[in-house]
Amino acid sequence: MERTAVLLVILNLWTSGLALNCRRVSGSLKQIDAGNGQVFGVNSANKIYTLYSGTWTQLSGSLKHVSVGPAGVWGVDANNYIHRLNHGDWVPVNGQLKQVDAGGMISPAGVNMNDYIYCLQGGQASSWTSLPGRLKYYSCGPNSCWGVSSGNQIYIMKNVSGALSMIEVSTDGKVYGVNSSGDIFGRNHFNQPYRTGWRQVPFRQKVKHVSYDLGHLWVIGTDNSIMDCTE
Ligand SMILES: *[C@@H]1O[C@H](CO)[C@@H](O)[C@H](O)[C@H]1NC(C)=O
Ligand SMILES: *[C@@H]1O[C@H](CO)[C@@H](O)[C@H](O)[C@H]1NC(C)=O
Repeated sequence: MERTAVLLVILNLWTSGLALNCRRVSGSLKQIDAGNGQVFGVNSANKIYTLYSGTWTQLSGSLKHVSVGPAGVWGVDANNYIHRLNHGDWVPVNGQLKQVDAGGMISPAGVNMNDYIYCLQGGQASSWTSLPGRLKYYSCGPNSCWGVSSGNQIYIMKNVSGALSMIEVSTDGKVYGVNSSGDIFGRNHFNQPYRTGWRQVPFRQKVKHVSYDLGHLWVIGTDNSIMDCTE
């Protein structure tokens, strides 16, 4: 009896999760990141916003990409300079990256203008360590880091089949990305990254960015519209 119930729950988890329930969120963003229960984004004028009690609150400063996660809140500005949020103020950090991700458990990681990959060793100390390979986008979760190359190929420790233009790993290890046609893909079995394939997440419009945290898939449409989706 109990075993049957468990099996039914597992089957239910397997078969559900295909359709997304989305609600349109007010505002307009070009990029969004959800992590640690927080949501940050930047708009097309590089203004920075965070969702606070259900409304977008603007932060000071200007960033073209922002990331929130266990490593804190990090971003890069239009000139690829790196900034870290510290008690409400942006603190400059040595180095230059075009994208930085705060999803790793301790230190952020990112890619520079020439697609070289770096992670910050020693926590907040500003010593970037170069990683092998070249990627245009990089995102880490607690157990793995994923990236996409300039040719839209997907990488995780080894070459994984598929092609995406951006990818995000959530704090709980889920992986979502968008291909260059604007379709959303998720990883089937998130705890077995080497054994799995991609599944397309059906969506009624083309999108350019996704981020997942705490059961919510945050989606940025090609028109910069914001959607908050649950499976
Ligand atoms: C990764 O795999 C794809 C397709 O399987 C292949 O075309 C590509 O060259 C591989 N990239 C590297 C760096 O090996
Ligand atoms: C993106 O995914 C969709 C759905 O599978 C597919 O039809 C389309 O060809 C993909 N785009 C690219 C560039 O691979």
